[in-house]
Amino acid sequence: MKKVLALVLTLMLVLTAVGTAMAAKVGISMPTKSLQRWNEDGAYLQAEFEAAGYEVELQYAGDNDVPTQVAQLETMLLNGCDVLVITAIESTALGTVLATAKEMGVKVVCHDRIIMDTDAVDYYATFDNFQVGEIQGQYVVDTLDLANGAGPFNIEFIAGDPGDNNAYYFYDGAQSKVKEYLDNGQLVCVSGQTDFDVVATPSWSTATAQARMDDVIAAFYAGGTPLDVVLCSNDSTAQGATNALVAAGFEAGEGYPIITGQDCDIASMKNILKGLQSMSIFKDTRILAARTVTIVNSILAGVEVETNAVVNNNVFDVPTYYSTPLFADINNYVELLIDSGYYTADQLAE
Ligand code: BGC
Repeated sequence: MKKVLALVLTLMLVLTAVGTAMAAKVGISMPTKSLQRWNEDGAYLQAEFEAAGYEVELQYAGDNDVPTQVAQLETMLLNGCDVLVITAIESTALGTVLATAKEMGVKVVCHDRIIMDTDAVDYYATFDNFQVGEIQGQYVVDTLDLANGAGPFNIEFIAGDPGDNNAYYFYDGAQSKVKEYLDNGQLVCVSGQTDFDVVATPSWSTATAQARMDDVIAAFYAGGTPLDVVLCSNDSTAQGATNALVAAGFEAGEGYPIITGQDCDIASMKNILKGLQSMSIFKDTRILAARTVTIVNSILAGVEVETNAVVNNNVFDVPTYYSTPLFADINNYVELLIDSGYYTADQLAE
């Protein structure tokens, strides 16, 4: 009897060891810990992958440091990762390490941001980034009643990181809604700064956005010229605009501009509750993490990967799954963010 028990135990140990050895390993490479967004994505991805039985190696590339991201990816390959899930800092900076991954048969899923100029990526999971910009632009059009001829109103723009391909989609999506009103004079960009390169914000930095907005306010709005809109591509840049406005003496209420955002960051939701930001876009990072895990599951199971779009990365049409971004403001945030369990009411309280 003892012998049988010993045999069964040994067998169980062997099976566990084999099972562990066979658990697929996923390397998750996130850009920075300094923005709330990526802490959430990293945490949800890790939790979802581990729940699905994967071994996970999660790394943050310092504060958006490209060489660190490359080094971390190289280590993940050395450590035997079967799949890499990457949110790239610079969309064109990972070509060499990804070429190695491809040679090793390691699959690559772009998470939220596409990686450009390479054939060494396999799939892309993101939100419809052009639609994000469209929602922001349409919000400005509707709030100012531009379709009925209202205006003129003064508008300034703050776009995202030129190294992040998403930033162009957000900006182009927003411009697709407001451009006709800039052209016909219902919207006036007093600074004249509308080119993406001029309004872009390296690293999506709040401080950089704020510094540019400080300058714009001082140069163009100091003498009482009304500022009606600051169309910002996301929350970290919107926070820069808000800081600059508050520092220049603007107060919530009449005379305070419309400020758009994206991500429903806690800091921006608090600003929305105080009337210092007008709206944001909710991209439920739980949904995106689950989608990325589904894609990896299908790749490793050798079954068809569900996609609903393609995004060209200058080399090929990368099979893509777009999730839907949602409008968020003071009127729907409870249902969207609190009732759904994304935040607790306490997290958004002052
Ligand atoms: C993401 C945004 C985010 C921005 C800054 C973009 O790639 O899609 O949600 O606000 O990066 O981190």
